[in-house]
Amino acid sequence: METVVSGIRSTGNLHLGNYYGALRNFVKMQKENNCFFFIADYHSLTTHPDPKMLHGNVKNVLTEYLAAGIDPEISTIYVQSDVPEVCELYLLLNMHAYMGELSKTASFKDKARKNPENVNAGLLTYPTLMAADILMHNADRVPVGKDQEQHLEMTRKFARRFNNLYNVELFKEPKVYVEEGQELIKIPGLDGSGKMGKSEGNCIYLIDDPKTIEKKVKRALTDEGPKAPNSEKPDYIENLFTLLKVVSTQEVVDHFEEKWNTCEIRYGDLKKQLAEDMIKTTNPIRERIIDIQNDEAYLHKVTKMGAEKARESASKIVKEVRQIMGFKPF
Ligand code: TYM
Repeated sequence: METVVSGIRSTGNLHLGNYYGALRNFVKMQKENNCFFFIADYHSLTTHPDPKMLHGNVKNVLTEYLAAGIDPEISTIYVQSDVPEVCELYLLLNMHAYMGELSKTASFKDKARKNPENVNAGLLTYPTLMAADILMHNADRVPVGKDQEQHLEMTRKFARRFNNLYNVELFKEPKVYVEEGQELIKIPGLDGSGKMGKSEGNCIYLIDDPKTIEKKVKRALTDEGPKAPNSEKPDYIENLFTLLKVVSTQEVVDHFEEKWNTCEIRYGDLKKQLAEDMIKTTNPIRERIIDIQNDEAYLHKVTKMGAEKARESASKIVKEVRQIMGFKPF
């Protein structure tokens, strides 16, 4: 049985990008592996969230994990800040993480460019904290979207570097979790730009009600249609097809591909179908979110149990790391 670690930052509600990027195939994933799902609340601190909002944001992600179908009896669900072992491993790994490589990370450069007034050390060392999340369970696999590929590559580098430096075979080099024949996925936004993302404001959230989803999809950018048969799709249309491929059946996708190729496509029909199929995915989850979100006793029980299981797993590795690096008790 392999160990799988999946994390989502507590910066807001879960959207379809998170759902298909980090939780795809989660039924099978949970059944076949030893899974850890956690809420990355330390990672959310790089953007200085209002302390009054922090707990509510963690609660949202926790509720949505559970509502989506993560089963706390099978998997371990925990809050990152409930597991102090991660801080120790983060500190130790940081001693072998270099300024040059950290500052070259695409996400760091992007965030530093967008918020030049807040280029903090937490942002720079974001990949080491993520590596600590993964390596403290010695994960084999990590389900992530395409945007996290580079961070995972850095995790492998840190693992390899540690093993080489201390001449041990402690850390595995974690691979992405993808089904055979599949690739890492990038769920596009509805605004014709790149990926669906909270900060981009182009998301379909799991908590969105059907009317909201219909409205958002209706507003998605389109044009007057293809000018010639079998023509290439502009990015904003390709994005709609990518979304359709994720939420709809192959038959539906084939139908609209055919309509595109023969210049008979009616975007209104495509959007109606897309919204309908998105609602099919999100509606049952939304209903469960509403059921779970006020059940404080349940949420307490889940996080307590999760923290215990996560700490048990992490403390073993951190203990080994300490020994390898030369720490000894008096
Ligand atoms: P975060 O919170 O930005 O996103 C959580 C997960 O959702 C995926 N994702 C997407 N996948 C496909 N298309 C999209 N549009 C899309 N948007 C988000 C992300 O790839 C990610 O898998 N650094 C991580 C959180 C993290 C983590 C970890 C993940 C911290 N430690 C350890 C795995 C293992 C992040 O920012 O995710």
